[in-house]
Amino acid sequence: MDKFIIKGGCTLNGEVTISGSKNAALPILIATMLSSDDSIIGNIPNLDDVQNLKQLLMDFGIKILHFDKKNYFSHIINKEFCYSEPSNEVVKKFRASILMLGPLLAKIGKAKISLPGGCAIGKRPVNMHLDGLSMMGANIIIENDQIKAHVPNGRLSGARIKFRFPSVGATENIMMAACLADGTTILENAAQEPEIIELAQALNSMGSMIIGAGTRTIQIIGQKSLKGMRHIISPDRIEIGTFIAMATITGGNIFIKNVCLKTLQSIVINFQKIGCNFHVDQNGVRVNASKQIQNINIKTAPYPGFPTDMQAQIMSCLCVANGISYIQENVWENRFMHTLELTKMGADISTHGNLAIIKGKNKLTGSKVKASDLRASAGLIIAALSAEGTSEILHIHHLDRGYVTLENKLVQLGVDILRVNDSNIL
Ligand code: EPZ
Repeated sequence: MDKFIIKGGCTLNGEVTISGSKNAALPILIATMLSSDDSIIGNIPNLDDVQNLKQLLMDFGIKILHFDKKNYFSHIINKEFCYSEPSNEVVKKFRASILMLGPLLAKIGKAKISLPGGCAIGKRPVNMHLDGLSMMGANIIIENDQIKAHVPNGRLSGARIKFRFPSVGATENIMMAACLADGTTILENAAQEPEIIELAQALNSMGSMIIGAGTRTIQIIGQKSLKGMRHIISPDRIEIGTFIAMATITGGNIFIKNVCLKTLQSIVINFQKIGCNFHVDQNGVRVNASKQIQNINIKTAPYPGFPTDMQAQIMSCLCVANGISYIQENVWENRFMHTLELTKMGADISTHGNLAIIKGKNKLTGSKVKASDLRASAGLIIAALSAEGTSEILHIHHLDRGYVTLENKLVQLGVDILRVNDSNIL
C-alpha cells in the first residue's frame, strides 16, 4: 500500500491545473450506454473510480478508446453492447456503480448488480434509487446483496417522484432512466448539485429533453432513442476547494488555472470569512491567504449549502484557527473519522453526534496517521502541510479514488511530498 511522506511548514505558491470532476464524469460515462451510437467525452479524470467504471462498462461490451491522450478525449464505442452481470468485486469498490441500474432498466429492461461500495462515511442505502425506479414500473428485489430488477412490460413509464432527501445519486439514476421512459417524469425535491446540471447537459446533447436541472423540480420528457453524447467534463469543484484549503492553511498564494467560482459560492464565502482572498480574472482564480485563520461555524448541507465533501478539508484549517469553531455534518452519519487522526497531530477536537467542536491551536505536529476515506485523506494532507516536522499518511489509496496525481500538483506548488510504496503497511 502507498503512503505519503510530507515535510510540513511549507507555503504554497505557484499555479495549478484542476482535473475533470469525478462526480460529474462517473454518471456521464454511464449515461453513454443509453445510446447505441458512439460517444465522445473530453477531460475525463484518470482516477481509480473511473478505471473501475471503465472495467464495468467493458463487461457490457462497451469499448473506451483514448484517442487524444493530451486532452483526455475518450471514444466510447457501444456497437457491441451486450447484457452482462457486472463483476461484484468491482461494483463494490465504489458507490457510483449503482448508477448503472437506471440506464440498464431503461435500455434493456433488466439488470442484476450487487449493492455498491464506496467510502465508509455512512450506511449508504439505495432505497430512494429503488423506490423511484419501482414507481416507473420496474420490479426490484434484493437477494444476497444482489439487486435483481426487470421491467415487466418492457419499457419504463414516466412518474412523479418526490425524494424525501435531495439525493444526488438517486436524482442522477432516475433522470437517466427517465430519458428513455414512456411519457414524462417529474422529480421533486431533486438534488441541485452542479453535477446534476452537467449530467442533464450531457444527456440533452444526446437528444434528451430535461428541463429544470439545478432546481428542486426536474422534468424529463422520455424519448424513443438517443444519439451519441458529445461532452467535455468540467473541472472538479471539490478539488478546487481542496486547493483553496491548502493555500489557506499554509498562508499561500496560488493561481488556479481555467476555472471559475460559479459553483463554489458557499466554499468561497466561508473561506473568505476565515481569511482567504480571491481574485478572479479571465484565466482563472488567484487565492491569497492571510497568515491568520479565523474561527467559524459550518453546517454542511445539500447544494447550494456548504458541501459535505469539503468538511474534512475546512476542519483541518480550523485546527490552527484563532478561537473555537463548530462543524455540523448534516449529510452523512459517519463522516468524522478524520478527527481521531487529526488529534494525533495535536488538534483539539471533540465530537458529539454530528457536531465537531474544534479549539484552534498555534500549531500541529507532524505524525504518522491513517487515511480512512477519500476526503479524510485530503484533510490529513492539508493538516500535514502546516504541521511542524514530517508526517506520514498511510492508506493513500483512498485519495487516488478522487484526486489525479495530487502529489505532483503539490510538488509544483513548492511542497516537499513523496509517495512511497510501503509493503509493510497492512
Ligand atoms: C454523492 O454521493 C457523491 N458521490 C458524494 O461524494 C457526496 O458526498 C454526496 O453525493 C452528497 O453530496 C458521487 O457523486 C459519486 P446522496 P451519493 O445520495 O449520491 C441518503 C466524494 O467524496 N440516501 O446525495 O451517494 C444517504 O445515506 C463522495 O466524492 C438514502 O437514505 O449521496 C446520505 O445520508 C462521498 N437513500 C444522503 O442521502 C438513498 O437511496 C445523501 O446521499 C440515497 C441516499
